Amino acid sequence: MRVDDPDHVREQYADETRLATRTAVWQPSADGRDPVSEALAAVERALPGGTADVLEVGCGTGAMAERIAALPGVRLVAVDFTPRFVELTAGRGIDARQADIQYLPFGDGSFDVVYAGWMLYHVPDLDRGLAEIRRVLRPGGTLVAVTNGDEHLADLREAAGAPRAPLPFSSENGAASLASRFTDVRRQDLETRAVFADHAGAQAYLDTFGEGLEGRLPHFDGSREYAGHVGIFEAR
Ligand SMILES: C[S@@+](CC[C@H](N)C(=O)[O-])C[C@H]1O[C@@H](n2cnc3c(N)ncnc32)[C@H](O)[C@@H]1O
Repeated sequence: MRVDDPDHVREQYADETRLATRTAVWQPSADGRDPVSEALAAVERALPGGTADVLEVGCGTGAMAERIAALPGVRLVAVDFTPRFVELTAGRGIDARQADIQYLPFGDGSFDVVYAGWMLYHVPDLDRGLAEIRRVLRPGGTLVAVTNGDEHLADLREAAGAPRAPLPFSSENGAASLASRFTDVRRQDLETRAVFADHAGAQAYLDTFGEGLEGRLPHFDGSREYAGHVGIFEAR
């Protein structure tokens, strides 16, 4: 199973249940920072002032789209290639459209900022996706992209006997991919916490990935926390 296999991605996001199970466990880092708020701050920093055109790619349920759209002066378009996520995002009053980032249906230089949250590792031809983002950005425009690091939930995965599976776009390797399309690439790292109320919750989390890890997590009593590692890129 590869995270950028189109059949796997379609199955993963046919509806919102797996994503909802995963999103629910995350808590901010010890210093109180959470990746979504930090990414929103990065989007806000990148706005040119006055009216700004922002594109979110791989918008999922539209939770971040709603926060971006509430920033002053922002005109937001959100795309996802999964029909259910387009429907959920449109249901929040967002201009949401179905599109694959490898073939963005927008003219050159249409946006000031593009936001890509935990989605670039799913794109089969990542360089094509990044070229499309660069094309639709105005000169001087910014891509804000969030992903996970190699050590993300490593302890949980190791306990369940899951193989090490570096992401095609991770905290560690993302800058190298971005460098072919962007000249100024910065990254901030955050350590977050996945909090599981019990063993069943942790096993259910692992089950969502469709990696055959069902029943593989050794039993534990009580609740547990595992460390997550997130990278936020700002590229222009
Ligand atoms: C891990 S989810 C992240 C969703 C959302 N950004 C969030 O942070 O909750 C990945 C999303 O990217 C979408 N996606 C995957 N590949 C895509 C592609 N090539 N073009 C557009 N959307 C894609 C999926 O349908 C899914 O909604």
